[in-house]
Amino acid sequence: MRHGFITLEGPDGSGKSTQAALLAEKLQRMGLPVVLTREPGGTEVGVRLREMLLDPDTQLTVMTEILLMAADRAQHVEKVIKPALENNMIVICDRYIDSSLAYQGFGLLGDIRPVLGINEAAIQGIWPNLTILLDVEPKVGLRRHAALSPHRSSGDLDRIEQRDLAFHQRVRDGYHALQNIYKERFAVIDTTLLEIEEVDQKVWEVVVQRLKVGIC
Ligand code: TYD
Repeated sequence: MRHGFITLEGPDGSGKSTQAALLAEKLQRMGLPVVLTREPGGTEVGVRLREMLLDPDTQLTVMTEILLMAADRAQHVEKVIKPALENNMIVICDRYIDSSLAYQGFGLLGDIRPVLGINEAAIQGIWPNLTILLDVEPKVGLRRHAALSPHRSSGDLDRIEQRDLAFHQRVRDGYHALQNIYKERFAVIDTTLLEIEEVDQKVWEVVVQRLKVGIC
């Protein structure tokens, strides 16, 4: 029985990547074996798919986008996530299936069923034990994103970030719907008014409580 598959989810600018790194560091300091990875782009093939998926000059149909995200995930599960879990490592993944359900399902199609079907084939039954949703209002998130990446101008947003506010709002509402569908594995932290250290503290509390890390 494995217990160590943690995913971080949230709208753009929710601070997932920072929090994923902080959590991995903490677990590693406790001597636990951790794999920190992300989607899209957690494998060599995935890096190439990520470039294609996020390049504003790529013209993708909705179905192509769904399938490429799922292809990235299939490769990642087979080559990285499954072997690590089989070796009893803790896997922390910055975005996973819920990103496809929120962005492509709720954000683009307005229906998660086709996205769920395709992704169930990609993940081979490997669902996270814990999904931490870092919630943030889209306006705040996109502003934060720009502030954290001062090298980027607004014209530098990637293909998905460039979508309008209504899309990002559907994604955020979609995450709330997913939290209701998958109550048992979801934990939500509202990051709107919190500093990085405060979010870090809350993430840690959730991990200790849900996965009993550091207790036994
Ligand atoms: P991310 O790496 O979190 O963005 P950044 O490093 O720029 O903060 O994710 C890249 C984008 O891909 C993000 O806008 C969300 C999107 N995405 C999907 O639309 N569907 C998916 O299944 C995944 C994994 C990501």
